[in-house]
Amino acid sequence: MLYQGKSKQVFETDDPRRVVLRFTDRATAFNGVKEAQIGDKGRINCAITTRLFAEVAARGVQHHVVDQLSATELLCERVEIVPVEVVVRSRAAGSFSKRYAVAEGTRLDQPLVELFVKSDALNDPLINDDAAVALGLARRWELAFLKETSLVVHQALAAFWAGHGIELVDAKYEYGRAEGRLLLADELTPDGARLWDAKTGEKLDKDVFRRDLGDLGDTYRALLARIGAA
Ligand code: C5P
Repeated sequence: MLYQGKSKQVFETDDPRRVVLRFTDRATAFNGVKEAQIGDKGRINCAITTRLFAEVAARGVQHHVVDQLSATELLCERVEIVPVEVVVRSRAAGSFSKRYAVAEGTRLDQPLVELFVKSDALNDPLINDDAAVALGLARRWELAFLKETSLVVHQALAAFWAGHGIELVDAKYEYGRAEGRLLLADELTPDGARLWDAKTGEKLDKDVFRRDLGDLGDTYRALLARIGAA
């Protein structure tokens, strides 16, 4: 094992340019303060990730997934993760609502991009381009690419979810460097996005776990069934 994440594990393969990403059943929130095992979560998130990466690939976005190996494992390009998380928001929610005292659900005129430092030790603080460059987290051109690409990805995924009666409220995207290229990396799951039922506003993402709104396993199973990727 190369790396043990909060909900995923990364394994080496015989090929130094490839890794195996394994989705586990672990759910965490508030930087690991709250945690639980959610039966079937690894399989569901692996299936959703596979489906969504195919969706963004169709829009010409390069990503790290090479193949699905099993119900919970993806073969991926080995990348060096850029330690900057890109959050795109279509409506105010979560930390944005709190930081600026904007009611959750307030629609934003156009999707906006925020950058956060990927650091458990620092609790993922908000950062701007100048500070990220000064700290050596990314080059300025990389940040420009990350922000522009994230808007394309977000638009593609918003259209996909809208087709299933679901609104993509916000999401976090991560990227990796691989042989001179920047690839969309990590996962695309309801762990790292807010998804609301377009009609009822019901939360269909990890906020169900963070805020004790119901059974996360049932929520994720229903979500997977809705997109027909089971
Ligand atoms: O908490 P906040 O409102 O900043 O989160 C914005 C979006 O980014 C949410 O969809 C959340 O699930 C995701 N996120 C994440 N990992 C983090 C922080 C936020 O996936 N470390």
